[in-house]
Amino acid sequence: MTLARVTATRFVAPLREGGSLPGIIEADDLGTYVCKFRGAGQGLPVLVAEVIVSGLAEALGLHTPRLVTVDLTEPIARYEADEEVQDLLNASLGLNLGVDFLPGSFGFDSAIDVSSDYAARVLWLDGFVANVDRSWRNPNLLVWHGKVWVIDHGASLYFHHAWSRGLTDPARFADQPWSVDDHVLAAHLDAVAGLADETRRADHRRGACRRDRQGAGRVAGRSRLPGRVQGGVRRVPSRPPRRIPGLAAETRRGMSAPMPYQYVVLRCVPRVDREEFVNVGVLVYCQEADFLAAGCRVDAERLHALWPELDADAVRAALAFVDGVCRGDAALGAAATGDLGVRFGFLKAPRSTVVQPGPVHGGITADPVAEVERLLDLLVR
Ligand SMILES: Nc1ncnc2c1ncn2[C@@H]1O[C@H](COP(=O)(O)OP(=O)(O)OP(=O)(O)O)[C@@H](O)[C@H]1O
Ligand SMILES: [Mg+2]
Repeated sequence: MTLARVTATRFVAPLREGGSLPGIIEADDLGTYVCKFRGAGQGLPVLVAEVIVSGLAEALGLHTPRLVTVDLTEPIARYEADEEVQDLLNASLGLNLGVDFLPGSFGFDSAIDVSSDYAARVLWLDGFVANVDRSWRNPNLLVWHGKVWVIDHGASLYFHHAWSRGLTDPARFADQPWSVDDHVLAAHLDAVAGLADETRRADHRRGACRRDRQGAGRVAGRSRLPGRVQGGVRRVPSRPPRRIPGLAAETRRGMSAPMPYQYVVLRCVPRVDREEFVNVGVLVYCQEADFLAAGCRVDAERLHALWPELDADAVRAALAFVDGVCRGDAALGAAATGDLGVRFGFLKAPRSTVVQPGPVHGGITADPVAEVERLLDLLVR
């Protein structure tokens, strides 16, 4: 596996969602990349894990962005106004990892249906490399051009974290348990067994059934995976239709005296690299009233003024997911089942995809239901 080498020519925007503060850069090949910086707190071996696991994902027929190495030179950092970003750039001079930027990609959510075969391959991969970073809270799956893409594999092959005390025994890693419980595709676990059976037969035909100690056993036994993969997506058809306007509420107490509430504006950022956005919804959480609701409105014409190619239906679907989480729609799985504070925490977490929450602000109201409508009028319509 050889990675092309490019030189960064422009810092475009930080991706604040990522714990490692990756940033979008433009390079001298005119490509745009998500740069994962060597100076980030996670350290350099994490980037090596990214490269190895991305190669495995590709070998499994999963969609994953092309990788390059990115040379970062000092002048790029010189005029960066954000001190945190400037420090990171200065700590990362030299060779870094670049991930081909997928413009206009949506985040994966549990209302998106993915084929069992594709999901099984993702589960197999994550079990094999013990990836702990594909939970429903942070799926590290992007939806781009109707396909699911796997990204962000730095939290895999974690044995290198112990290398400061010398090399560790590979068998120990292979035998480490790995929990699928929080995995965003855990519902497809049974399909992994089918995949393993199918591939064992393929292995047998090739006379290659020799691997006794491999981490894939963590998921469903030994397997070698054939390359027939669809990976296309559609929305789960059984989802209840979205109510318009999207007032979704759970209220358990009468409302009279003004109560403090938190809100975020939901934004559509058609091109994250351009940082332009249109407000498309509000999310209101009032703990005292046990109230969490989303109100949404998509004006396709306004969105298309920012980017004509944007899929407005995909924006509506992403907002319908937010609405469903507020309503506690059980079909949406774990994201919609916690208490309201936990659900609000999940929905307000920074994202770097087309639909994102803005910063949290606060207010007081005696009537949270009316406040959703009022904020919708004021900030979105
Ligand atoms: N190639 C890409 N194209 C488009 N968006 C991307 C790409 N890579 C990452 N992103 C966006 O940036 C976010 C942060 O990137 P990534 O998950 O790789 O960073 P991280 O610091 O390892 O994150 P974390 O550990 O918090 O999951 C992703 O969740 C995704 O929304
Ligand atoms: Mg991530």
